[in-house]
Amino acid sequence: MDVIRVSGGARLAGEVAVVGAKNSALKLMAAALLAPGRSVVTNVPLITDIAVMAEVLRRLGCEVDIRGDEVGVTVPDRPGTEADYDLVRQLRASICVLGPLLARCGYARVAHPGGDAIGSRGLDMHVAGLARMGAEVTGEHGYVIASAPGGLHGATIWLDFPSVGATENLLMAAVLARGGTEIDNAAREPEIVDLCAMLTGMGARISGAGTSRLEVAGLGNAASLAPVTHRCVGDRIVAGTWAFGAAMTRGDVTVTGVDPRFIEIALDKLILAGCLVETGPQSLRVRMDQRPRAVDVVTLPYPGFATDLLPMAIGLASVSEGSSLVTENIFDGRFMFINEMARLGAQIQTDGHHAVVRGRERLSSAPVRASDIRAGAGLVMAGLCTDGITEIAGVHHVDRGYPDVVPDLRRLGACVERTVAPDVPAFGL
Ligand code: EPU
Repeated sequence: MDVIRVSGGARLAGEVAVVGAKNSALKLMAAALLAPGRSVVTNVPLITDIAVMAEVLRRLGCEVDIRGDEVGVTVPDRPGTEADYDLVRQLRASICVLGPLLARCGYARVAHPGGDAIGSRGLDMHVAGLARMGAEVTGEHGYVIASAPGGLHGATIWLDFPSVGATENLLMAAVLARGGTEIDNAAREPEIVDLCAMLTGMGARISGAGTSRLEVAGLGNAASLAPVTHRCVGDRIVAGTWAFGAAMTRGDVTVTGVDPRFIEIALDKLILAGCLVETGPQSLRVRMDQRPRAVDVVTLPYPGFATDLLPMAIGLASVSEGSSLVTENIFDGRFMFINEMARLGAQIQTDGHHAVVRGRERLSSAPVRASDIRAGAGLVMAGLCTDGITEIAGVHHVDRGYPDVVPDLRRLGACVERTVAPDVPAFGL
């Protein structure tokens, strides 16, 4: 297994480009299932999750070609209805094939999805919403089985929480249903807006994208959408990771390829911490000339502070002057990586979904292990603030969200390398 070795003390400076958002690209690939023919998604990040989603779609009978940052998905007239158990288990986003398959085929059998170790991740809102639209949904042998032989019908759906995945699944199911669907308390993330744009490009009739009330005029016919070419929205979480990296290392980083309004609250926190922030239509620059001041952070659904940036907020708080209160409201296991931060000398106390972080001037290098994508990125950034060489294991997690993290870090002046960890000797043989 690879490890990343980061030397502490570097100041990140320069320009870095972000590509499309993983959490959009994966859903856009699933959306292609809604129309027979070849849809193309461009500006796709070259990460392992995209390869896994491509394989999920291939096993459903699609042809998938990946050329550079373009993914072509050619969907047959009759796609398969069973999503492979072992593939789906690797990827939370793969549950998003459920809505489109059910809408097109009247039946779908999709394994319970996997994903990061950041807490319990229910499916009750996906299931309840599909049931409202006339589906019978059961669970068996680790699969979610949804059936609507007569087709789905429109419905009014109240989500208990603005779940990103449930909003996406229900939206994709609703576009082909008979009659109108209203999704209230819908998620408002830029990735949802991106999905709405692709679906609209395919011929779907959706209003309210980016608000908490989505209205879909269902087309009522499984063959009514057409394939499309769509450019994936830039990755706000990767952009935010670089922005926090600049603040933590007292650097000066310009990030291109993303709309800075998508991380407005995060940038505001950086300004409060003492950063100079400049923004353009598709770029942002974060410069920090002093030790950061402690700021409090509360994660919330969009447009609140993104939970996926929580490890970066903890990293910043760990080297700030003063104490920060960091509150996580989305995932019950988000703080699991804090034990690894403690190895780096970070002073963090948690109580339920709150963490109090007492900043110190410099962290202390140590071997650590990433437990999920964002924790891994946070540990890499924290490693830059240590007094020696920090070795981060579990790099495959980081690879799931950050296409070129080591070359990008090098370009920004960090001393970092990726090596293969020596094999653990086999005992007792
Ligand atoms: N939830 C339920 N029942 C449901 C659906 C969700 O209880 O039916 C709960 C979850 O357990 C969680 C909360 O609601 O506690 C939020 O879940 P949501 O459905 O909004 O998240 P998701 O769709 O599973 C996506 C991203 C995550 C990101 C969250 C929140 C993808 C593939 N994943 O997850 O991204 O943190 O939205 O913004 O889009 C990452 O990229 O590292 C990542 C974890």
